[in-house]
Parts: sequence; structure tokens; C-alpha cells
Amino acid sequence: MSANSITRVSVIGTGTMASGIVQVLAQSGIPVTMIGRSTVRLEASMNGIQRTFRRAVDRGRMSEDDMQLATSIIEPTDSWDHVADSDMVIEAVSEDLDVKRELFARMDGMARDSAILASNTSSISITTLAAGTSDPTRVVGMHFFNPVPVMQLVEIVRGLETSDETAAATIALATRAGKTPVEVNDYPGFVSNRVLLPMINEAVFCLMEGVATRENIDAVMKLGMNHPMGPLALADLIGLDVCLDILEVLHRDLGDPKYRPAPLLRKMVAAGKLGRKSGEGFFSYHQ
Ligand code: 3HC
Repeated sequence: MSANSITRVSVIGTGTMASGIVQVLAQSGIPVTMIGRSTVRLEASMNGIQRTFRRAVDRGRMSEDDMQLATSIIEPTDSWDHVADSDMVIEAVSEDLDVKRELFARMDGMARDSAILASNTSSISITTLAAGTSDPTRVVGMHFFNPVPVMQLVEIVRGLETSDETAAATIALATRAGKTPVEVNDYPGFVSNRVLLPMINEAVFCLMEGVATRENIDAVMKLGMNHPMGPLALADLIGLDVCLDILEVLHRDLGDPKYRPAPLLRKMVAAGKLGRKSGEGFFSYHQ
């Protein structure tokens, strides 16, 4: 499978990441099926994508014709029919190993033999997901970053048995979608989250221990390190539950106490303060 022979991609999921992936593929001219469980969620995702396209047209970054074309090559559906005629299937559902395992078994059974099976997972082992399929050489990680339309990176994660052909076709597809792919091997948290999450965790420890206020912790990292946003605001963007999940994986799978999640992070998640998506995290997002 070469990237140029990828003529249709199926994306499974309707959340923020799935919608972003569908959007960037469609605006690069790649026909894409967005598969969701509920028509209400599919409609909400399509409305979000159309709003983003409209904003791009209003700001002169996209022509009206290109918007019509990109919209027309997205097919939102609750059916898996198109998986059989897709050259690549990308799953971007919630970070739950059992759910993803089940999904990979289904993708493996329904996709054609030559299709690539990719996961947008931020922390689950690609090797583990691949082991549950009939052909682990065609399984790969395609880790996008939030907000997907804006962030340049796609981390291409090679499982133990991912073939060179699979990795090369995935790299080429990410490039076609206007992104910059960077190849890494499958270890817990890959490179991105293994480096990012300890920084976020340390910021939470600083807040918990009263080293500084939340505003000042973020100001130090923005003004002193030139980060576009502070680590606490970034944790709110990612979702505090997602941050906690990733830290648990790093802590458990690398077995090093340096990844111990900050107790304040656990407490925030237990209280349902999950960041932007719940309206409140380290900062408040209520209008
Ligand atoms: N969707 C689409 N476009 C968006 C967007 C979104 N959700 N959020 C912002 N944008 C666009 C805006 O439209 C704007 O584009 P324009 O200027 O051409 O109109 C541009 O991005 C800049 O937005 P703003 O001016 O509103 O805001 P900022 O300049 O403050 O940028 C930011 C916002 C891009 C989010 C910036 O703060 C940033 O880069 N933050 C860091 C984000 C980051 O680190 N993401 C990685 C998270 S880790 C991850 O995803 C991995 C996972 O496994 C945990």
C-alpha cells in the first residue's frame, strides 16, 4: 500500500480528535468516511467541521468551491459498510484498552487485507493493539495533536512488527494531509506524552505545594520558555482525565516513581473538573 493508492480513509469516532482528523483529510482532498455510533453525535461533528470551514472561507484562507468540495467528500455514517472499501482505517475513540481491542478485532475482520489499521491513541501500546489482529505488520500509531487543524505534528508510532511499507504509507498520507510526520518507536507515552506529561504533572505539584498561583505558574512557562500556553491551561485543553490516564500508563508501564500523578490532579478528576470540556479545570471556562 503506497500513500498515493490511499483513495478512501475511514475514521472511527466523533469526538474532537476524530473530527479534526476528518477535517484535515477532507480539506486535503482525501475522501473520508466518519463512522460514529449515534447520528446526533455525527451531526454535531459535521456542524463543527462546517463552522471551521466557514471561518476559513470568511478569513480568505479557503475558497467557497474548496469548502463545498471538502464537505462533499466527507460521509458521516453509523454504518461500517465503507470500512471494506477503505485503504486505511483510523480509530480515534476514547482511551480504553478493552474498547480499542474490540475495535481492532472488528477493523481487522472487516477491512481488506491490504488496508492499514491505525490508532490515534496517546498512550496505549500499538504492539498490544496489533497483537490482537491477524496481521500486526499493517498496524501503526498515527498520533495527532489538539487542535488537529492547527498542530503541525503527527507522531507516527511503529509497533514491534509494523512493516516498513505500513510506516512509509502512513508517513506519506500525513504529509499529503499537510502535516509533518515524525517517526518514533512504541514505548509508553511515545516521545510526546513521555516528555509533556511529566512537565504538566510537575506544574500541578507546584500548584499543590503552593510554590506559586496557577496564573504565575503558567506565566513563568509562557514568558520564560516561550510556550504558547502554560502547562495548567494546556492540561485543561487536553482534559485532566486524559492527563491522569497517560500518567497512570507511564507510571505503571515504565515502573518509575517519577511519573507518579500529583494527588491534586486525581482530586480534580474525582470532582469532575476535567478542564475545558467540563467548563472548569485549573481555570474556569464558564461564559
Ligand atoms: N480548531 C481549529 N482552529 C483553531 C482551534 C481549534 N480548536 N483553536 C485555535 N484555532 C486556530 C484559530 O482559528 C487561529 O487561526 P487564525 O489566526 O488563522 O484564525 C489560530 O488557531 C490561533 O488561535 P487563537 O489566536 O485563538 O489562539 P492562540 O494564538 O492562543 O493559539 C493554540 C491557540 C493554537 C491552541 C495555541 O495556544 C497552542 O498552540 N497551544 C498549545 C497546544 C498544544 O500544545 N497542543 C498539544 C496538546 S498534547 C496532545 O494533543 C497530545 C495528546 O495525546 C495529549
